[in-house]
Amino acid sequence: MPLHVLSHPLGAHVLTHLRDKTTKPALFRTLSYQIALLLALEATRDLATEEKLIETPLEPFPGRVLAKPLSVVPILRAGLGMLQPFHDIFPDVSVGYVGLERDHTTAVARSYYCKLPPLAGTRVVVVDPMLATGGSAAQAVGVVKAAGGAEIVFVCIVASPEGVAVMQRAHPEVPIFAGAVDRTLDSHKYILPGLGDFGDRLYGT
Ligand code: PRP
Ligand code: URA
Repeated sequence: MPLHVLSHPLGAHVLTHLRDKTTKPALFRTLSYQIALLLALEATRDLATEEKLIETPLEPFPGRVLAKPLSVVPILRAGLGMLQPFHDIFPDVSVGYVGLERDHTTAVARSYYCKLPPLAGTRVVVVDPMLATGGSAAQAVGVVKAAGGAEIVFVCIVASPEGVAVMQRAHPEVPIFAGAVDRTLDSHKYILPGLGDFGDRLYGT
C-alpha cells in the first residue's frame, strides 16, 4: 500500500521546530497538534460520504455527510500527542488505546494496556508519532485487526525507511501517512536525524 508523505509547506515548518532540541514541552505539544491536524486531513481525504437532504434557510439542498464512523487508536503514550485534532475535526470519533513500550536495550515493544471500542465497519486510524523499527506499529495494527478493524490506516510524524519496510511486510494493505521519512536508525534504534524521544519531549520526562 502507498506511503504518503506530507507535502504541505506548513508540515516542513512545524517539523523543523519539533526537531529543534531547544523546543520545550509546551511548544512541542502545540507543534504536535498542528502537524497531527495536517496528517489527520490527509489520512481522511478519501472518506466515503453519502447524500443528505437538508433545507437551507432559502431552499432544499442535497448535501453530503460522512458515511462511515471513524475510530482513532493512539499508541500510548506518545500517540496521545496526536489525538486532539481528531476530536476537534471528527466530534463523533471513537477512541481506543493500545499501550506499548519499547525495551531500552532490545527496542522490542512490550504490550501493557489495550482498550478498544467496536471497530467493525469503521475507518480505523492508528496514530503514533514515531515509526522507528516498526515493531510497535506492526504490533498495534495486529491488535486492531484481531479486534475486528478491517479498514485501517497508520499515521506517524516521522518514519524511518526500516520501519516503513517492516509495516509494508507485516500489513501490506495498510496505507502509511507520514510527516517525513528520515535517513535511518542509529545503533539504539532511534531515528536519524529524527527528533529524539517523542514521549519524553512531549511530557518533559
Ligand atoms: C516510541 C514511539 C513508538 C515507538 C516507535 O514509544 O512513540 O511507539 O517508540 O519505535 P519502534 O518503531 O521501534 O517500535 P516508546 O516505546 O518509547 O514509549 P512512549 O510512547 O511511552 O514514550
Ligand atoms: N521512539 C522515539 O520516540 N524516537 C525515536 O527516534 C525512536 C523511537
